[in-house]
Amino acid sequence: MLEIKNLYVKGILKNFSLTVRAGEIHAIMGPNGAGKSTLAKVIAGDPSYEVESGEILFNGENILELAPEDRARLGIFMGFQYPVEIPGLNNELFLHAAYGKGTPEEFSKLLDETLEFMEMKPSFKERNVNEGFSGGEKKKNEILQMAILKPALAILDETDSGLDIDAMKVVANGVNKLLHAKNALILITHYQRLLDYIKPHFIHVVIDGTIVLSGGAQLALELEERGYDWLLTPT
Ligand SMILES: Nc1ncnc2c1ncn2[C@@H]1O[C@H](COP(=O)(O)OP(=O)(O)O)[C@@H](O)[C@H]1O
Ligand SMILES: [Mg+2]
Repeated sequence: MLEIKNLYVKGILKNFSLTVRAGEIHAIMGPNGAGKSTLAKVIAGDPSYEVESGEILFNGENILELAPEDRARLGIFMGFQYPVEIPGLNNELFLHAAYGKGTPEEFSKLLDETLEFMEMKPSFKERNVNEGFSGGEKKKNEILQMAILKPALAILDETDSGLDIDAMKVVANGVNKLLHAKNALILITHYQRLLDYIKPHFIHVVIDGTIVLSGGAQLALELEERGYDWLLTPT
């Protein structure tokens, strides 16, 4: 589904390669400043990064020249580390615009059903996008967007940061319910905690802009115990 080949992003990512197939969950871990959010934003098409070389193929198509909205249309979804507040924009109208189909009545019904399925408060419908939302509610709202849009590839950046254990369980349950054999997830996380609830098939450790180690789910426990220092190359 996603193939990143020898990607260089100016000043941040170096020789970064990653292959994600349908049905797979990949966790990207690593210390602060390693380039994890950069990776997510470059896949989503954030124009503030300069891709120097390499390729990002999505279902065989090179997406590097595509605008963010075209990548979204292909089925790439990104949940932000810091979701923005959009005061004055009603969440339902926003989600309907992103969904882009159906009458307001049809969408309202879909949103009600989705909120119930995701075990989220009906008030998410009426409120403005993330305005005055708690940290946990903002992250839940990202998952709500994901539930509505049903992307082929979801990239969640530090979705667990700032969440208490109960909010994290709601988020993790929601994500787990949305995963099936035909979609895929890239989970960016600093801590092992979330991976107790969303089980990755692969874990990749990013340090200094490149993957230094890949392994299975058990790698998270080792990282929790040993930190990242032992992976740093001596200089
Ligand atoms: N738009 C940008 N342009 C240039 N450098 C950036 C930009 N955004 C972040 N950086 C830098 O890139 C490095 C990696 O940041 P980031 O991807 O946010 O790391 P992580 O998510 O792993 O903590 C940091 O040194 C950061 O300051
Ligand atoms: Mg980050």
